Amino acid sequence: MPPPTYIVIFGASGDLTKRKLLPALYALSCENLISPNIVIVGFARKEKSHEQFRTELGKAIKQHSRFKNEAETKGKHSWEIFAKRIYYYKGDFSNAKDYTGLLPFLDSLTSANTDPSNRLFYLATPPRVFAIIIQHLGKAGLVSTKSSGNGWTRIIVEKPFGRDLETAKILNDKIAAVFQENQVYRIDHYLGKETVQNILVFRMSNGIFEPLWNNHYVDHVQITVAESIGVENRGSYFEEAGTLRDMIQSHVLQLLTLIAMEPPAAFEANAIRDEKVKVLHAIRPYAHTDVDNHVVRAQYGEGHIDGNATIAYRQESGVNPNSNTETFVAMRLNIDNWRWAKVPFYLRVGKRMAKRLTEVAIYFKHAPYALFRSAGCHIIEPNVLTLRIQPNEGISLGFGSKAPGTAIRIDPVQMDFLYETSFQDAQPEAYERLLSDCLTGDSTLFARRDEIEHAWDLVTRIIHAWNDVPRPQLPKYQSGSWGPDESDNLIQKDLRKWRKT
Ligand code: BG6
Repeated sequence: MPPPTYIVIFGASGDLTKRKLLPALYALSCENLISPNIVIVGFARKEKSHEQFRTELGKAIKQHSRFKNEAETKGKHSWEIFAKRIYYYKGDFSNAKDYTGLLPFLDSLTSANTDPSNRLFYLATPPRVFAIIIQHLGKAGLVSTKSSGNGWTRIIVEKPFGRDLETAKILNDKIAAVFQENQVYRIDHYLGKETVQNILVFRMSNGIFEPLWNNHYVDHVQITVAESIGVENRGSYFEEAGTLRDMIQSHVLQLLTLIAMEPPAAFEANAIRDEKVKVLHAIRPYAHTDVDNHVVRAQYGEGHIDGNATIAYRQESGVNPNSNTETFVAMRLNIDNWRWAKVPFYLRVGKRMAKRLTEVAIYFKHAPYALFRSAGCHIIEPNVLTLRIQPNEGISLGFGSKAPGTAIRIDPVQMDFLYETSFQDAQPEAYERLLSDCLTGDSTLFARRDEIEHAWDLVTRIIHAWNDVPRPQLPKYQSGSWGPDESDNLIQKDLRKWRKT
């Protein structure tokens, strides 16, 4: 179990705290996976009493926690008991005094509780204040770089981590001026998903897949991250971000590295991250003038999802009516290494798509000889191994089977594993796993500095090419579709097609 710790959340009044962080901490408590002596301090600007803050969070727990039923949360796991360990500290992110005051405030809580000498700072604020908070934490003496004696100090930094390679490096430098790299936990909630963690387990705990996991047997790989939701109430954030920064730089490249990496020498944070970085390093950089041949961007127009009419991106609140921010990206990547030479990776990511679906599909090469052609079977589907990240979490393998009858007919069939039917236990939320790992000091599921910078390097090349040739109007796709024609053309040029789902 993680040791007693002070968890100070910057941006305590924000959505992330209410929807994800507190529900995750509460779930860890209900599962007995967190010390009962944990102390949570919300740091935010508004005047608020501890009681008001607890009441606000109590409402959020009712809405967002997976432990909200009376029966599940009675006794020592009741919200009322947990809430007693939550405090509010009014502070301005840019006011030095509010940081110097934080230390005595934390000390004052120590007398009321047992002594948690470890400190975890969580940056759940807009990214523009990350650097200023970090500098103030350092100046106020709140960061101990020693890992023993007076306990440890760690920091979790939310995404987006920078806007491009340059800003990511600047932020990394500012962090490095105050924290050592092993104290820094850059969060990517995709890494906390069970099914994402299962990618390595699937590949490296089963003897039969790894021998096939290379350019001798794999024709190509498709990664799809489709959301049916639009930008919701985050229009102004998304205007600045776009799908390339919001999804590709982080979640999608994380999926790609887990699929493409070499087996690490040990199941250990740096050994795994070393291998992931090698993949990013091996991705062939696009030539500046060639980006449009490999990367498609588009924006959603009006349409229908689940029978309901939906508005276009440009009509969303907080969005410029002439916006050219992309809500969809499709791209082709090549990984220039021994394992993946000549195996293209196709990525397709978008909002307001036909349905919510995140999956990785490994397309295998055809059998070397078409034995059944003489029996009239000309087109045989390739074998496709699909890792369904969400929803309907599971894995399936498609293969051809003789359809019953006197003639030879080969039909595609599926071998299916579904989490839901194989495992009865509820899946923990990604933030539960990640918070628990950080509290125990395991950074395997967090991005290291070089990982972030390599990912930004690739993405920044695309951003620069796009900025150099601005398009007055991005291609549009209908909400509720699978993206624009340009995306189909991208893969069809290679005589392949997107997986129908
Ligand atoms: C976030 C992005 O990081 O991930 C959002 O900022 C996106 O735009 C979300 O909707 C998707 O996460 P999930 O877990 O719902 O797939």
